[in-house]
Amino acid sequence: MSDHMHILVYDNTCPSRAGVQQTIQEGSLSIHPILHSEDSSFGAEVYGVDWSKPISAYVVAQLIALQDKYGVLIFRNTGLDNSRHIAFSQQLGDKLEVNPFFYGRENDRLGEPLLFDVANIELDGSLVKMDSRRYHHSLGNALWHTDSSYHQQRSKYSILLSHGNPVEGGSWTHFADTRRAYSDLSQAKKEEIENLVVEHDLWHSRKLASPAVFGNPLPHELAAKPPAYHRLVQTAPDGRKTLYLAAHAKGIVGKGIEESQQLIWELIEHCTQSKYVFSMEWLSGGDMVWWDNRQSMHRANPYTATMTARDVRRSTILDDGPWASGVSAAELE
Ligand SMILES: [Fe+2]
Repeated sequence: MSDHMHILVYDNTCPSRAGVQQTIQEGSLSIHPILHSEDSSFGAEVYGVDWSKPISAYVVAQLIALQDKYGVLIFRNTGLDNSRHIAFSQQLGDKLEVNPFFYGRENDRLGEPLLFDVANIELDGSLVKMDSRRYHHSLGNALWHTDSSYHQQRSKYSILLSHGNPVEGGSWTHFADTRRAYSDLSQAKKEEIENLVVEHDLWHSRKLASPAVFGNPLPHELAAKPPAYHRLVQTAPDGRKTLYLAAHAKGIVGKGIEESQQLIWELIEHCTQSKYVFSMEWLSGGDMVWWDNRQSMHRANPYTATMTARDVRRSTILDDGPWASGVSAAELE
């Protein structure tokens, strides 16, 4: 482990449940915004979607407009199963990301390549072994990141759905508003970073979170997931500028690794100050959160030796926007 590696271990947090401040009614939908500032809103709980039936094109359009505005939408008690989770996801984009099954298809509990099993549960129902490669892989999810930035063809949305009861003692997923964080940067910092390109590497975040196990990823892991290149400053779907950042961010093109990591973590720490962050508490099975990876960061609470079963499953919708395929090798030269 060299000096520039910046290991961050976050504690589990137990935020207080803030009372709902405001309800906005839009047709049949009730929207409860979570974080407010003068010119920005981030995160909202949305009620009024009838998840027992296919979602109409009209409601899908309404929800996408809300997603563009809030960046993270939370739905309670949806009652969705795997196939309806996938069907809704497919209404939001042409293609879903296919699970690479790094640790073997034979270990796949869900039997569904369009879902990522981010539960802490093994095939036989036991909890994931604390010393397993899969367990160590999961530790990276507790670092601030955005999903799939390490793919050249990146993803726009992730939808995480809970099955069964939440973990004893509570569980949370934390979200950071990278649009508002960008707008609060100094003009000098904005100019400094405007044209930077970032190399994202899945194995970089795995190494940060678990250097003993992922200090040297296995050849098949490296081959399955080479790095990808994306602009640091991007335009979000609502037209505002945002920072596209993640613990996967390994280097900045044209800068050395030390200098790159210093700037990357300075910006991640800027984005994840408490004023830009809220924590979603998982209250019951069927709870679902849908976020836009292009204008937010998130992290899970780390798995612990004493935690109970947590059955959460994720679909990931490929980006079809103007920044979807990042910066090509030809553009880098
Ligand atoms: Fe994630």
